[in-house]
Amino acid sequence: MKDATKAIHAGRRPHDFSGVVNPPVMHASTILFPTLEALRGSRHIRSGDGHTYGVHGTTTTFALEEAIRALEGGYRTRLQCSGLAACTLPLLAYLDTGDHLLMPDSVYGPVRAFCDGMLRRMGVETTYYDPLLGGDIRQVMRPNTRVVWVESPGSWTFEVQDIPAIAEVAHAGGATVIMDNTWASPLYFKPFEHGVDVSCQAVTKYISGHSDLVMGSVTCTEEAYPRFQMAQQETGICPSPDDVFLAMRGIRTIHARLPHHWNSALKVADWLMSRNEVAQVLYPAMPHDRGHALWKRDFEGASSLFGFVLKPECSGEAGLAAMLDSMRLHGMGYSWGGFESLLIPVDPPKIRTATRWPRQDVAEGQLMRLHVGLEDTDDLIADLSDGFDRLRAAG
Ligand SMILES: Cc1ncc(COP(=O)(O)O)c(C=O)c1O
Repeated sequence: MKDATKAIHAGRRPHDFSGVVNPPVMHASTILFPTLEALRGSRHIRSGDGHTYGVHGTTTTFALEEAIRALEGGYRTRLQCSGLAACTLPLLAYLDTGDHLLMPDSVYGPVRAFCDGMLRRMGVETTYYDPLLGGDIRQVMRPNTRVVWVESPGSWTFEVQDIPAIAEVAHAGGATVIMDNTWASPLYFKPFEHGVDVSCQAVTKYISGHSDLVMGSVTCTEEAYPRFQMAQQETGICPSPDDVFLAMRGIRTIHARLPHHWNSALKVADWLMSRNEVAQVLYPAMPHDRGHALWKRDFEGASSLFGFVLKPECSGEAGLAAMLDSMRLHGMGYSWGGFESLLIPVDPPKIRTATRWPRQDVAEGQLMRLHVGLEDTDDLIADLSDGFDRLRAAG
């Protein structure tokens, strides 16, 4: 089946529920067992493998898990209460005291904070690496490297990683490859075809698509799953059934929304390239981008989150405020993947430690992050154009 068909049908069994198209929303803590034998037998059922207690999943959660798994690939998907939890729980699952972790310098900031905070306190050492290392990552592997993390492209600086090359080196060293696959969504990057063992999604973004919930998912290969399943059981992390219901609505249209996002992003990015205020556009889906060849080789499409660099003379705080405070359509907020457009300034030099920002091939100036929503692109471009007028007027 093609992805569009999977997005519509995966995880649904209408005739088990009187023909009702969507799975029921089960609000459950207690689950009753009909006999003493069944009650005693339930002790051997692991989290996610059946109905034992609300925390460990119900028909509602299993249905969305199956829909995500069908699109992303892999053996099993488990839902988490946020995208960040979908990143931190696998780290807890696959790392022990004394282990070493490799993290790309472009990693999502709160994951970096988790490594520098809780993982450090647990006695796990993190080395941040240049996301563009590819197979040269062997230079920073150690005998005790147990996890190699990838996020491609990084959600602020948009470096595309050579994931097959990194996975080959990681596996040769006995490490598990975990990926934050949120940018591409399960539609546009198939992690398990490229050597990834565990894939994390912020369901909050494109899967839900409507900016009205926070949720995460973790999908594993069959080999990697038992260890993750144990971590899920031990920590009791689970989403609310009403949020699962909303995310289920979202995933049924992801294949219709994503091409629209991608197409609109290309139009807006193209227009930005023609603007005097803009020094560079960082969008791997565009041929000039340094990550384009890898993106073209490995990805099946592009989402609509990308960066652009304002020329230094257009990067002053007063001009930025004049532009951003009065946008009509572009909101300022720390998320993306919803139906609406967002625009914020971001500051990578403040958090990177392994590589200098801007990189050699990136222009100096204020980096902006744009999420292109589902509005009409002419309207979005008019809003940005008026914003640039205000920016220039403010000097
Ligand atoms: C790349 C990436 N991964 C993970 C997350 C975390 O998702 P959540 O906000 O649901 O915790 C985010 C959120 O912005 C993100 O941008």
